Amino acid sequence: MAQTLVKHVASEEDTAQIASALAALLRPGDVVLLDGALAAGKTFFTRALVRALGSDEAVTSPTYTIANIYETPKGPVLHVDAYRLKGAHEFYHLGLEEYFDTGVSVIEWGERIADYFDAPLSIRIGFGDSEMERQVTFTAEAPRWSPVLEALT
Ligand SMILES: Nc1ncnc2c1ncn2[C@@H]1O[C@H](COP(=O)(O)OP(=O)(O)OP(=O)(O)O)[C@@H](O)[C@H]1O
Ligand SMILES: [Mg+2]
Repeated sequence: MAQTLVKHVASEEDTAQIASALAALLRPGDVVLLDGALAAGKTFFTRALVRALGSDEAVTSPTYTIANIYETPKGPVLHVDAYRLKGAHEFYHLGLEEYFDTGVSVIEWGERIADYFDAPLSIRIGFGDSEMERQVTFTAEAPRWSPVLEALT
C-alpha cells in the first residue's frame, strides 16, 4: 500500500534538516528517487543528505557526468541525474549496479527509471508560494519505508 508524507518547508534550512533526518535513517541498498521541476531543490537536497552522512566533498549536479560517487563514513552515495536518460534500458549500461547494493543511491529525475528499482523511496519537491518555500512529498510502497516515514513525520 502506498504511504505518503507531505512536509511543508519554509527555507533552505528546513529542506536541509529533512534531508539530514532522512540521511540518519538510510542504510546500504536504499534507493531514493528525487523529482520536481528545474531548480526545485533536488541537488540541494542531495548535498544536504551527503553532508549529513559525514562527507564534505562538493556535491555538484551530475547532469553531464550522469553519476557521481561520494565516499562517506556510512558508505558510498551514488548520485545520479537521470534527466538525459531515455529510460531504464539506458541505465543498465552504466555499470553502476554494484552501488545499488553497497551504497545509498539518490537519483534526480528518478521517475524516468523508477521501473528499474524494487523498493524505492520517491521524493517530489514542489514549489511553494514564496521563493524559499517548498512542499516535499515522500511516497513509498515497500514496507522498508514505513518506519522511515513514521520517523520523519
Ligand atoms: N527551501 C528550499 N529548499 C531547497 N532549495 C531552495 C530552497 N529555497 C531556495 N532554494 C534554492 O533553490 C535552488 C535549487 O537548485 P537545485 O540545483 O538544487 O535544483 P534541482 O532540482 O537540482 O534542479 P535541476 O533540475 O536543474 O537539477 C538552489 O539555488 C537553492 O538555494
Ligand atoms: Mg539538480
